[in-house]
Amino acid sequence: VPRNLLDQIKAFEELFTVDTAKLNEIVDHFVSELKKGLSKEGGSIPMIPTFVMDWPTGKEKGAYLALDMGGTNLRVCEIILDGNRSFDTIQSKYHMPPELKVGDSEALWDYVAECMEAFIASYHGSIEEVEKLHLGFTFSYPCTQYAINHGILQRWTKGFDIEGVEGKDVVPMLAKAFEKRNLPITVTALINDTTGTLVASNYTDPSFKMGVIFGTGCNAAYYDTLGNIPKLEGKVSLPPDTPMAINTEWGAFDNEKVVLPRTKYDVQVDEESPRPGQQCFEKLISGLYLAEIFRLCVLDMHDCGLIFENLDVTAFRKPYCIDASFLAMIEMDPFENLSETEELFLTKFGLKTTEPERKLFRRLAELIGTRSARLSACGVAAIAKKTGMTEFHAGADGSVFNKYPFFRERGAEALSEIFNWPSKKQKDHPIKILPAEDGSGVGAALIAAMTLSRQERGE
Ligand code: BG6
Ligand code: GLC
Repeated sequence: VPRNLLDQIKAFEELFTVDTAKLNEIVDHFVSELKKGLSKEGGSIPMIPTFVMDWPTGKEKGAYLALDMGGTNLRVCEIILDGNRSFDTIQSKYHMPPELKVGDSEALWDYVAECMEAFIASYHGSIEEVEKLHLGFTFSYPCTQYAINHGILQRWTKGFDIEGVEGKDVVPMLAKAFEKRNLPITVTALINDTTGTLVASNYTDPSFKMGVIFGTGCNAAYYDTLGNIPKLEGKVSLPPDTPMAINTEWGAFDNEKVVLPRTKYDVQVDEESPRPGQQCFEKLISGLYLAEIFRLCVLDMHDCGLIFENLDVTAFRKPYCIDASFLAMIEMDPFENLSETEELFLTKFGLKTTEPERKLFRRLAELIGTRSARLSACGVAAIAKKTGMTEFHAGADGSVFNKYPFFRERGAEALSEIFNWPSKKQKDHPIKILPAEDGSGVGAALIAAMTLSRQERGE
């Protein structure tokens, strides 16, 4: 047990630092797990064939609806693809009430249909005048797919826990809620946010070969070929070089706990989550969990008598009472004495901090944020190694990627260590993780368009 703050910093540094050798060990195991997920036996990474079997051509055209149900918001868009690698979008964002995330299934679908109705009413006037609309539904949870417009929810992730949905096809549930309101909408494609990001970024720039989300959850998609997917043998009779986008659901990597460096705080986060033992990789990385890990570390120090002496920490004991933006603010505090951090603890929790305590918090946030970015890079490197792609861009989206300070730089640094690239500058790296433009909306529209042209071709 560390007896002073300096010892404590050292102890955290040891716990949370992932050095180059460990990164490489993780990547090697990751590659074999990706392959296992595609094999007949399967593995803990679901490696879901999405039935998106074309790369976008850039010539896709028409108007489509897109519904994006991720972690934080519900977004409805109408997207007009102009047939020339560009698009126009109108969109509305709706709040996802937290009680819906753990409520009952009908309430969820009714709320989604209500938002959809509000969107159509505000942009198209009366529903009666609207012609049939095709929808790309981005539903960002692991779904087994046997066709593009079906998806059986394997399990909820990202803290969702709604009864009566797991093990069922979500498309008819949504379609029923649309019918109740007489909405003239066909669910043409069900997609994951990573698949949408992959397709949308490849549409705007073909050097993008991977879609990655670093947000509430963490996941990636890429294109493989049917010949590399033994578990589809006998199920799809198309040539082995036919492309198939794979939603990896890599958040489940290392659920067997073979290689990831898990601290006692990570174990606690997992045990207290609605689905213990699931999404072990995601729980070390994604936005939902970063601040919770930090909170548990801070409470542990207090309980050992190291910090917040004689203070009442009751408010801070509430699970998930801080989110990743709290850590981001600590990391970005511009003042030498970390006065913004002081203000943060004081106003939110009534906790008075000393300067050495705040310096420790800053270092801890850095360590947790850095571990997240470095472990994320392992996933990107593993897909690159598995597919043999040596030069490409990965399109990334999500609140952690877009808002967490230094996440991109730290990820790029880890990639360069893994591949041993001579230059430290990201601009010189052959594999770059770059922001993707509105993956889920445009991706969903593109996939709906691609599905309709397949149907027209009779495929
Ligand atoms: C959004 C995408 O930008 O990022 C969503 O449109 C995706 O599809 C989301 O799910 C992920 O980020 P977060 O932080 O909301 O989980
Ligand atoms: C979780 C979901 C996955 C999604 C990711 C990012 O990992 O299981 O489907 O892509 O979060 O939103």
